[in-house]
Amino acid sequence: MKELNIGLFGFGTVGTGIYKVLGSARNAHAAIRRICVHSLAKKRAIELPEGMLTDKAADILDDPCIDLIVEVVDNAEASYAIVTEALRRGIPVVSGNKAMIARHLPELIELQRANNTALLYDASACGSIPVIRNLEEYYDNDLLLEVKGILNGSSNYILSRVFDHGENYADALAKAQRLGFAEADPSFDIKGFDSLFKLVIITIHALGVYVKPEDVFAYGIATISDFDIRYAREKGVKIKLVAQVVKLDEGRFTLFVMPEFVAPGKYIYSVDDEYNGVVIRGECYDRQFMFGKGAGSLPTASSILSDVTARHHDYRYEYKKMSYSGRPVYTDDVTLRVYLRHPGPELPDGIKFEKITERYLSGDGCYTVGNISLASLRANKAILDDPSVFLCNIPRFFLDLD
Ligand SMILES: NC(=O)c1ccc[n+]([C@@H]2O[C@H](COP(=O)([O-])OP(=O)(O)OC[C@H]3O[C@@H](n4cnc5c(N)ncnc54)[C@H](OP(=O)(O)O)[C@@H]3O)[C@@H](O)[C@H]2O)c1
Repeated sequence: MKELNIGLFGFGTVGTGIYKVLGSARNAHAAIRRICVHSLAKKRAIELPEGMLTDKAADILDDPCIDLIVEVVDNAEASYAIVTEALRRGIPVVSGNKAMIARHLPELIELQRANNTALLYDASACGSIPVIRNLEEYYDNDLLLEVKGILNGSSNYILSRVFDHGENYADALAKAQRLGFAEADPSFDIKGFDSLFKLVIITIHALGVYVKPEDVFAYGIATISDFDIRYAREKGVKIKLVAQVVKLDEGRFTLFVMPEFVAPGKYIYSVDDEYNGVVIRGECYDRQFMFGKGAGSLPTASSILSDVTARHHDYRYEYKKMSYSGRPVYTDDVTLRVYLRHPGPELPDGIKFEKITERYLSGDGCYTVGNISLASLRANKAILDDPSVFLCNIPRFFLDLD
């Protein structure tokens, strides 16, 4: 088997993991020839052969020996420039950049087709859990009804410390940052963006439909308070940050990211710490569950390695479901049941429930439980982002079958 010559962009958490994993993989038949980083001056934990590092993308893109580019930089604009240029030149790419991929998927698919090359990105959604390729290949039929899960390890780690170890939210967040599970600026994770980008990528491989990230309601755990945590504990449930894409009927589907009250007995109830878990539900087979490490240096590198070895067999995503007839259409015209904590006895301006089933108004906090449309939640996102407000999904009927 011919050895693949890899040009690696990025030598941080994931890049160094790839270097280690590839260095010890006996059957990868691939070797890193050059590594492009942002700053040559930075001290590296791993000693590299003389001349291997560069800060010029052209040193890799112009090198005719390079068969495959692996792109794991932390900057979405730089990632976009590197990946699109490589694809235009017909060089296949493996990437882990969920934000870039989710925002530019239609263009990236077109570039692959026009230049007869491939972009693989299993590492971008759920780290070591092989979700994308499974959705693309095994679930290659009309039976899929729902993909739902915990896609963000950082927020799950924080919620786990709160619900399983009795810590308060602020201490749990600080601990996650200290251990490297959450960034110094954790908003990408705790405001739901990381889960949103992964969900957009999952949706195109699950149902063959691309939905722009800005068209999807994504709400995180940034405003959760001790009041909400107490409410969940009293009800005997945990709060988890859940992303879901759900077929409502033959013609329509919806997707969103929202904290959810998860009851014991649900598969995702026991997905703790920095782990991810994905439930796939379909006609004929009911539910299937995938569980594993969704992030981190070596787990993510293992997924990249799998994409690298797939390139030995010229594997590429075919996006077959995009050409299926009768693909469902995205709608946010769906009623959810939610818990809403608000600062005073009145509901925040603009928030209108279709039906209220429970209200609690007291000096230590107020909440309302009832039915509300997803479209109205999207329209009032700015109000819901206020620190005095917290929203949590209460799963029901078609959304409670996992
Ligand atoms: N960390 C995870 O667990 C994980 C999991 C799945 C996917 N991902 C994705 O993988 C990517 C990398 O994440 P990471 O955690 O490894 O980030 P990281 O530790 O911050 O490392 C980023 C690397 O990118 C390099 N870089 C930045 N701009 C560049 C440019 N213009 N050209 C070349 N190199 C550039 C940096 O160079 P310097 O070293 O010189 O600063 C650094 O080596 C991100 O897209 C992330 O979303 C990460």
